[in-house]
Amino acid sequence: MIGKVFMVMPCVLGLVGGLWTCGGSQQIKRQLLSQEEWTTLRNEVRELIRPDCGSCHTSSLATAKPGAIRVFDLVKEDWAASMSAEQLQGFQRRASGSVDEEDVRKIDVFLGAELARREVSNQMPDEMQ
Ligand code: HEC
Repeated sequence: MIGKVFMVMPCVLGLVGGLWTCGGSQQIKRQLLSQEEWTTLRNEVRELIRPDCGSCHTSSLATAKPGAIRVFDLVKEDWAASMSAEQLQGFQRRASGSVDEEDVRKIDVFLGAELARREVSNQMPDEMQ
């Protein structure tokens, strides 16, 4: 409990200061994957987070929240594409809390590939909301 509070503190201070990097979480390492690896991992991560995040972030469910769907919608194949780089960082923090260590690594690799892909194709501005 106390450990958790100390992890959260730098995040809160960072947000107040306008910084998005958070003391408790690691930077997402950008690394491209092949198209096939990337789509496989994207589907895996979607299933990993569905139990904890799906209720609000799935537009086909009665429990869906409009604000949550705008951020990401698990009904979509390319469900992470709608998130800004900052939201992906927030996603990593939230999702990491609800899966085990091995799956945290999967999520990090996926998010790193998503960010790297955007840099390469250069189609997605950083400030998207
Ligand atoms: C009880 C409903 C609910 C659940 C469950 C939920 N979310 Fe959300 N989420 C929302 C809503 C509503 C918003 C939009 C909030 C806003 O407009 O500020 C949101 C926004 C977000 C954002 C963008 C804001 C930010 O913090 O950067 C991220 C990322 C996110 N959710 C990730 C997740 C993840 C990952 C999970 C599962 C671990 C999850 N959410 C589970 C309702 C939910």
